[in-house]
Amino acid sequence: MSNPFTLINKTILITGASSGIGRATAILCAEMGATLFITGRTEAKLNETFTNLSGTGHQKIVLDFEIEDAITRLVAAIDQLDGIVHSAGMLDSTPIKFVNSTKLSKVMKLNFEVPYKITHQLVKERKIAKNGAIVYVSSLAGIGVGIVGNFAYSASKGAISSSIKVMALELALRKIRVNTVCPGMVRTEMLDTHSPVSKEQLAKDEKEHYPLGYGTPEQVANAIVFLLSDASSWITGTNLVIDGGASIH
Ligand SMILES: NC(=O)c1ccc[n+]([C@@H]2O[C@H](COP(=O)([O-])OP(=O)(O)OC[C@H]3O[C@@H](n4cnc5c(N)ncnc54)[C@H](OP(=O)(O)O)[C@@H]3O)[C@@H](O)[C@H]2O)c1
Repeated sequence: MSNPFTLINKTILITGASSGIGRATAILCAEMGATLFITGRTEAKLNETFTNLSGTGHQKIVLDFEIEDAITRLVAAIDQLDGIVHSAGMLDSTPIKFVNSTKLSKVMKLNFEVPYKITHQLVKERKIAKNGAIVYVSSLAGIGVGIVGNFAYSASKGAISSSIKVMALELALRKIRVNTVCPGMVRTEMLDTHSPVSKEQLAKDEKEHYPLGYGTPEQVANAIVFLLSDASSWITGTNLVIDGGASIH
């Protein structure tokens, strides 16, 4: 019996695979049979992901997307892909009165421009196969959920969640699908070390706003694998909310 959820015979690029959601997605994609091309900024962390991948034939490349030629190097190293997961990203929690152009540019660059440029270049060079799937890791912040201090972050994720609608339309001509996942709070390094909010405040937020509690990277990875697989072959241009019920309120 054929299994539409399998990733066997698919080659998938995952950015931000050295940590959190990207790492969990890489491990699950490999378990589901994909051959991977993974990127991360910190070599030791990327190596840790790499050693945990099932199967053979995977490749890794250490890249800091703040360095100018990173995207060119990445695209040059790739032959043909069936899927892309854009997970590399940063959180910023600067109140609006302290946001300046430099800060805004930094967040917009990593969270929006980098994934857009990677897709753009791969499409231009026809390196995404017919029936390919692109998944961006957006956020609840990208689809209208406001959190104090999230101005630049929300702008960057909002840019992704709205622009995928256009990409989905244009790339449908080549049968390439484009979707996002929009997670609520997920227990990763981003939350543990970069959140300006105290552990007590996070616990209160979880209790009050998350009927199913905060998420795990593995729970988000499950949704990403679905969007990469042929099981979602009729889904494009969608922002898939995955938030333990937080946005019900
Ligand atoms: N955690 C949440 O609650 C949550 C909620 C909604 C959406 N998201 C989104 O999920 C995605 C993954 O976040 P996460 O929670 O998994 O965070 P994470 O554990 O901190 O992972 C972030 C990843 O991005 C990479 N990265 C950061 N800056 C980079 C740069 N300049 N160049 C190249 N790679 C860079 C990191 O590499 P190194 O660690 O190796 O440096 C790491 O692999 C992000 O786009 C985030 O906005 C997260």
